[in-house]
Amino acid sequence: MCGIFGVTGDSRTTELLIKGLKRMEYRGYDSSGICLVNGKRLIRKRAVGPLSNLEPLVEDLPNSECGIAHTRWATHGAPTKENAHPHFSKDSKIAVVHNGIIENEVELRKKIKLLDDGIAFESETDSELIAHLLLIEFENSEIDIKNAKEEEILSCWKLVLDKLEGSFALAVVINGRNDFILFARKFAPLIISHDGERGILASDVSCVVGLTEEVFYLNEGDWGILTNSEVQIFNVDGEFVEAEAKKLEWKLGEAELGGYPTFMLKEIYEQPRVVRDCLRGRLSRDKIKGFSIPFNPRLLRIVGCGTAYNAGLLARYYIEQLSKIPVILDHAHEFRYGAPSGPKSLVIGISQSGETADTLAAIEAAQERGYPTLGIVNVESSTIARNVDSLLGIRAGPEIGVASTKAFTGQVLGGLLVAMKLGQLSKTFHREDLSYFDRHARMLPTSMERMLNDQNIKTKLWEAQQYFIDKNHAFFLGRNTSYPIALEGALKLKEISYIHAEGYAGGELKHGPLALVEEGTPIIVIASEGSSHKKLLGNAREVAARGAKVIFITHQEDDLADSHADLVIKVPRTHDLLQPLLYNIICQLLSLNIAEERGCNVDRPRNLAKSVTVE
Ligand code: AGP
Repeated sequence: MCGIFGVTGDSRTTELLIKGLKRMEYRGYDSSGICLVNGKRLIRKRAVGPLSNLEPLVEDLPNSECGIAHTRWATHGAPTKENAHPHFSKDSKIAVVHNGIIENEVELRKKIKLLDDGIAFESETDSELIAHLLLIEFENSEIDIKNAKEEEILSCWKLVLDKLEGSFALAVVINGRNDFILFARKFAPLIISHDGERGILASDVSCVVGLTEEVFYLNEGDWGILTNSEVQIFNVDGEFVEAEAKKLEWKLGEAELGGYPTFMLKEIYEQPRVVRDCLRGRLSRDKIKGFSIPFNPRLLRIVGCGTAYNAGLLARYYIEQLSKIPVILDHAHEFRYGAPSGPKSLVIGISQSGETADTLAAIEAAQERGYPTLGIVNVESSTIARNVDSLLGIRAGPEIGVASTKAFTGQVLGGLLVAMKLGQLSKTFHREDLSYFDRHARMLPTSMERMLNDQNIKTKLWEAQQYFIDKNHAFFLGRNTSYPIALEGALKLKEISYIHAEGYAGGELKHGPLALVEEGTPIIVIASEGSSHKKLLGNAREVAARGAKVIFITHQEDDLADSHADLVIKVPRTHDLLQPLLYNIICQLLSLNIAEERGCNVDRPRNLAKSVTVE
C-alpha cells in the first residue's frame, strides 16, 4: 500500500524525506510527493511514476526543518499528479499524507460541501478530505493557527479523527508551524522515533534503519503530536499514553541492495542465512524451542494471503503428517467473513509484513471466538506480531522485493517447527525423528549455497527460460508437498513476469486444465515423494503427449525424470520435509530470469505493493 514519512527538527529535511521514500517505494510506487514547512507557505512537489520523477523537482528547494512525504499505491483515483499526496486544504495552509482507506468518504464529502459550498476538491482521493476537515475545525474554533497552543491544535485534530471511519496512518503539517507534525494510526501501521532533537514518523521500520536506534510502535487508535523536542501520544479515548520505545530489530544495510542488482535476487541468495537464523536455538536434541503453543489443540486453522497462504498449505501437510492433527487452511480474506465454527482451534496466522489487513482481521475474528492464536511472522514489531497470543518470528530480515522469496522459506520452516512441536505433544514425532531432521537441517544452508552457485543449474535455468519466450501461459504441477510449491512458483512467475501461470495439483489436470495444454505450452513439474512422484511422471507424459514443453524439477537421486521431460533440473537431495524448499528456489530463480528477460521490474511489479494494509 502507500507509505508515509515525516521529519521535524532537522535542517536536512528534504534529503531525509527522499531517502525515506526510497526505502518505502516498495510499498507503492505509482506516484510520490513531499511537502515542506517553510516561512510563508507550504512548499509541495509531486510526481507521477517512480520516485526518480520526483527527485529532480526537489533539488533546489529551500531549507526546511519540517516536512512530510508519501509514496502512493492508488486506491481512490488514478495515479495522476492531482491525486498524488500530500493533499492541501483549500487555503493551502494544511497538508496531509495518508495510507489507508476512509470508508465514510462519500458522507464526509457531502458534509464538507454543505459546510462550504464553494469548495473545489483538487483530487478524487479520500485523503484530501482530511485537510479540509481540519481547516473547518480550526475555523470553527477560531484559533490563530500560527500562534495556537499545542492543546488547541490537538483538540481540533481529535475532532477530525473522530469523524473518520476506515483505516488510516496520517501525518499533517501546517503552514507557519515548522515545530510539529500531527499524526494518527488506525488499522494502518505507523512508527515514531525521537532523539530529543529530531522526530521521525514512518509507515515501517525499513525507512528509519540507520536514522535511529529505537522507535515507538503506535497501537490501534493512537494519535498525537511529534514536535522537535518530544512526542505526545494519546489513545483513542484521548488519554496520554506513556509509550516505551523499542530497539530497532534491523541494522543498517539489511534494507539496502548490498551490491545486488535487485532486492529480489539479494533475498533469494539470503535464504541459506534465513535457514540458519530461523532454526537457530530452536532445535535441541529432544525439544523444539523458542515459541509456545497456547494449548494442546485437536484442530488447527491456518490463515494467510498469497505466498503466506502457500506456505500455510505446506505447513498443513507437515502438521497433519507429523502430528496427525487435522488442519483447515483458509485464505485470510475468506476466514474473516466466514463464520469459523467447530471445536476450539488453534489459529495460526502467517504473514511476512505482519500488517496484511485481511490476515490481521482474520486473527481478530479468531480471537473474538475465543480461539488462541499463533503468528508465524517476519516483522516482529508488526501489528499481527503484537496481537497474537504466541509468536514465532521467522528472522528473515527485511524483505523489500514485492515478490516474497526468503520469507516463504522462513514461513515454511516456521510451519515445520510448529508441526514437530505438535508431533511431540501428540507423541507421533519422536526423538529419533527430530535428530534425523536436525542433521539434515544443519546441512541445508550449505546445500542451498551449493545449488545457488552451481553452474550446471544456471545453464539449465537458462535453457528452461527459452521455453517461455513469446509465451503468455504456463502451468506448474505438483502433488502432496510439492503442490504448494506449484502454487508458489506460479504466483512468483505471474506477479513479476505477467505471464498467466497457474499452479495445479497433478491429479487435477484431467478435470479440465488439460484442455489448455497446446503445442509449446511450458509446464513445470515439481517432484514429490513416493507414489505422488510416480503420478507426476505420468502427468509429465500426459502433457508432453499434447505438445507441452516439460521442465521437471527434482533431486539428484531421481533417475526416472530424465526420460519424462524435455529438461530436468536436479537439486541436492535433503530431508523429504525440506526438499520442497530447494525446488522452490529453482522456481524463484526461473521466474526472476524470465521476468528480467521480459524487461519487467522484479522489485516493483505493476499494480502490486509489498504490504496490503487495506482490504
Ligand atoms: C507474494 O510474492 C506477494 N507479494 C503477496 O502474495 C504476499 O505474500 C501477500 O500479500 C501476503 O503478505 P504478508 O506475508 O506480508 O501478509
